[in-house]
Order: sequence, then structure tokens, then C-alpha cells
Amino acid sequence: MRGFFGLKLTVAAALLASTTMAVAEDVEVLHWWTSGGEAAALNVLKEDLATKSIGWVDMPVAGGGGEAAMTALRARVTAGNPPTAVQMLGFDILDWAAEDALGDLTTVAAAEGWDAVVPAALQGFSKHDGKWIAAPVNVHSTNWVWMNKAALDAAGGKAPETWEELVAVLDAMKANGITPLAHGGQAWQDATVFDGVVLGLGNDFYKAAFIDLDPAVLGGDQMAEAFNRLIKLSTYVDANFSGRDWNLASAMVINGEAGMQMMGDWAKGEFVKAGKVPGTDFVCIRFPGTQGSVTFNSDQFAMFGVESDGAKAAQGAMASAIMNPTFQSAFNVVKGSAPARTDVPNDAFDDCGKKAMADLATANDSNSLFGSMAHGHAAPASVKNAVYDVVTAAFNGSYVDGAAAAAALATAVAAAQ
Ligand code: BGC
Repeated sequence: MRGFFGLKLTVAAALLASTTMAVAEDVEVLHWWTSGGEAAALNVLKEDLATKSIGWVDMPVAGGGGEAAMTALRARVTAGNPPTAVQMLGFDILDWAAEDALGDLTTVAAAEGWDAVVPAALQGFSKHDGKWIAAPVNVHSTNWVWMNKAALDAAGGKAPETWEELVAVLDAMKANGITPLAHGGQAWQDATVFDGVVLGLGNDFYKAAFIDLDPAVLGGDQMAEAFNRLIKLSTYVDANFSGRDWNLASAMVINGEAGMQMMGDWAKGEFVKAGKVPGTDFVCIRFPGTQGSVTFNSDQFAMFGVESDGAKAAQGAMASAIMNPTFQSAFNVVKGSAPARTDVPNDAFDDCGKKAMADLATANDSNSLFGSMAHGHAAPASVKNAVYDVVTAAFNGSYVDGAAAAAALATAVAAAQ
């Protein structure tokens, strides 16, 4: 047994050496990390690669959730000129793997023992047909609320734990003359809020609706209630919400113009970049009613099929750098996310980061960890986009009530499959 394992390692190391012996070329990286906090995190990666003499060619495509980036990627692949490495989410990775477009990172993964340290929920999106096809750099989660501490104090000081308490705090903030809910009216942001709303009605409901895509649940009474809650939340945004970028909504909370934002923990990257401290300047809570549960998404770097040994060497070296535990700590402290490995200490993380890591472990151990619908980890893009359409229409008042929106959702998801 021991001998066999030893042999496997020796072969893997030899294979890795033969790939890395070629001189690594620059990597061209397609990503959507364009906000202040995201750019700061990206710099941690760029600088790390620079120390390994891997040059960086930047291909940024703005737009949270990565829809625009995925459109740009499709165009590059169709033109026969894919970038070396691509930031990608969940089902998109598996879709490209099924098209046989991705390179194979199994040699590096085996040599470095990724199987033992990457949580199974992430591996489900990093592997295809038993091969490693992407390197996960983080775990984000979407069921968070970011609150301005002074605004919360002025609204009674108690962080809401239930839907009713949340509505009471939003009402108090409104009465205090600020915008209660900072929000950007873009489909992916509306859907990000809806992840929390749906999870707030129970783990079983979230799973049946968004993971199992049960038509009766998608069109049922609980979904009608979820939409009624979303419609209620839409009454707390300001008049200029439409089209606003998510980081500008974060800025409204940072400067006290607004009370709270419902957003994934990349928002924390903006607070940290602005020099704000959790517990002093801002408060991070799970979306009321979702304590102990997590809707996650993981940014991974998929490597596209390339010809030259130099390009392959660069891909292997970049994947290896991303998976380094010291790098994972440094990067995720800035990004707002948790590490994608279970063996990274939490010492360098602030209180919200420590909570993110603890919540992930708890949720993982109690079957309360679910892929985010808004960020491509619950269902393939066709279904996700169908959900986006209905959620955005509901947020913007297109349906008479939640029941009408739920009926539309069931129809749209059925048509998308
Ligand atoms: C990504 C994050 C990113 C956010 C906003 C999410 O889909 O996972 O890394 O910060 O979009 O751009």
C-alpha cells in the first residue's frame, strides 16, 4: 500500500518536472475583479506570480456574477484564441469541461495532494471525469448582510435575526432619513438578494427549489412568500438604484448614506479597502433566518487547452501558486472570502472572515451548505438566467403579487431545462 502510494507520487513528481522544465510563458487571465477591493485582491495574486517569474497579461471584463466575462470568453474560444486562465464559477466550469475545452491539472493536484484539503463541495466543480480541471482560490457566500454600525445603532442597535426584525430595522432606518437598503438594480444583484430570501424560508425549501428544481416548489406557496418578501425589500431602495454597480452600493453603506447591503462577502473587500473595521464601523450578519446555513460560490481558475509547453508550464505554475496555503490566506484576507482549503489557519482573518470560515465548517457538517443560484453553483447557466429574468421582473414590480411571480418562475425554469 505504502509502496504503491510512493510510486504514484514519484511518477507524478516526474511528470510535473517535465512540464515545469519548460520556461513558463506569461499568463493571460480573464476575470471580472474590477472593483477597488477586488483589484487589491487580484494584486496579491499578480505579485505572488511575479515572484515566480510568471508574467501577467490582464483581461478584465467588469460585471459581478461574471455574465459579461463568460460572453467575452465564448467569443475568444470561438475565435480559436482562448486566454490561458479564466476566473469561473460552478456549473460554467463543468460546461466547458464537457466541451473538452479545459486543460488537465491532475499532475499538479496529485503531486500537491489537493484531494485531501479541498472540501468535497468545491471538488464537485473542480473535477470532471476524475481529472482536476480548475484550481479553487476561495469560497464566498451570498447570504450576508453588511450594515453600517452607526446606522444600526441609531435604529435600535440590535442586529436582526428574523424577517420581522429585519423589516423593523429597515423601517427604523427609513424613519431616520437614510436609504435603508443600498442596492444596485442589476439582474445578478437582485438574484443575490433572492438567494438569502429563499434560504431564509428554510434549508429544505432552498434545496427543493434551487438545487432539485422541483416544479411544485418553484411555483408553490413558499415561493410566493419568498417573492412577496423580495417585493417588500424593493420598497427600501433609493430612486437611483437601477443599474448601479454593487461596489457603489457598498460605498453607500460605508459612508452612512444607506443602512445595509445584502451581498456576498466580496462586499467586505470594499469595507476593508476603505479602512473600515468589523464591529466598529460595520457589522456582518447572516441574512436573517439563515444562521448556520450557507449558500456558497467559489472562484476557480480554469485553464484552457493550450499547445506550447511554455503555456502549459505557466498554467501548472499558476495553479500551484493559487493552491499554496500561505497565498490562500493572504489573498482571501483581502478578497473577503474564506480559503478553498481546509488547512489554512484563521489567524490573519478579521472577525467577519473568522465567522465565514466557522459558518462554512458548521454548514458543511450539518448538510446546510448549498450552491448559490445567483452565482452559478445551484444550476447550469440556462436555468440561472431564467431565474434572473423572473427575479428581476419581480423586483421591478412586473407581477401583481408573489404568487404570480412564483408561477412565472416555475414556467421559466421548466422551459430552460
Ligand atoms: C465572484 C466574486 C466577485 C463578485 C462581484 C462573484 O460572482 O464570485 O469573486 O467579487 O462576483 O464581482
